[in-house]
Amino acid sequence: MRTLSHAQAKRFYDRFGTRQDRSTLYEERPLELLIENAELGEATAVFEFGCGTGRLAERLLCDHLSEQTTYTAVDVSDTMFGLTRERLAQWPSRTEVYLTTGEMDLEVDDSSFDRFICTYVCDLLSTNDIHKLLEEAHRILRPGGLLCLASLTAAHGFGAKLATGLWRLTYLISPALVGGCRPIRLWRYIYADYWEARFRRVVCPGGLCSEILVASCIKDGETLYEDR
Ligand SMILES: C[S@@+](CC[C@H](N)C(=O)[O-])C[C@H]1O[C@@H](n2cnc3c(N)ncnc32)[C@H](O)[C@@H]1O
Repeated sequence: MRTLSHAQAKRFYDRFGTRQDRSTLYEERPLELLIENAELGEATAVFEFGCGTGRLAERLLCDHLSEQTTYTAVDVSDTMFGLTRERLAQWPSRTEVYLTTGEMDLEVDDSSFDRFICTYVCDLLSTNDIHKLLEEAHRILRPGGLLCLASLTAAHGFGAKLATGLWRLTYLISPALVGGCRPIRLWRYIYADYWEARFRRVVCPGGLCSEILVASCIKDGETLYEDR
């Protein structure tokens, strides 16, 4: 299935801006589940890919992360970069926001984070980019660090199938009409040699289904949680 190029995605989200925050109907429950299962109270360094308006970052810094936890957020859109920078300005010593070129290479050191968060971005990336992004997530996470993903996914049940069918049809007409996002199955990208699944759930608030996936990073065959 064709996907938006990096330049097209950037153009779309530059224009879309704060309207992204209106998607709470289908994102709220999935994000709650992600937060409940990401063990955020124990996180020391969080990386977020495709941070949008910075809404999730602000929520986590306000309510879920310890006062020592650092937060690095990146996005390809100038508008989103600006909005996130404004939102996170109240934590100048703990937060960094970067504008990227749209490539999946992350300019940060190996094993330097213990949470990698990415919500409603994989579903607009090409299959190749999703693989590359998860390789990068694996590189920058410490052993035992958590990969925390949410994405649109395929539906179960009549109402959800209908809503997803309409979404897919709109996507086929023009990916830009739905922000470039299409339903995918995240778990298909998770290799057992690299990740140990901790939590997976599909929920369909408002008829649109999301998959939430939390997996811990295995390096050299070991995780911090091996003896649990
Ligand atoms: C659907 S929005 C989701 C935003 C946010 N994560 C949320 O859940 O509200 C997708 C975001 O991914 C960003 N994005 C799209 N392609 C990207 C890429 N190749 N690299 C970095 N960010 C990208 C967009 O600019 C936009 O902010």
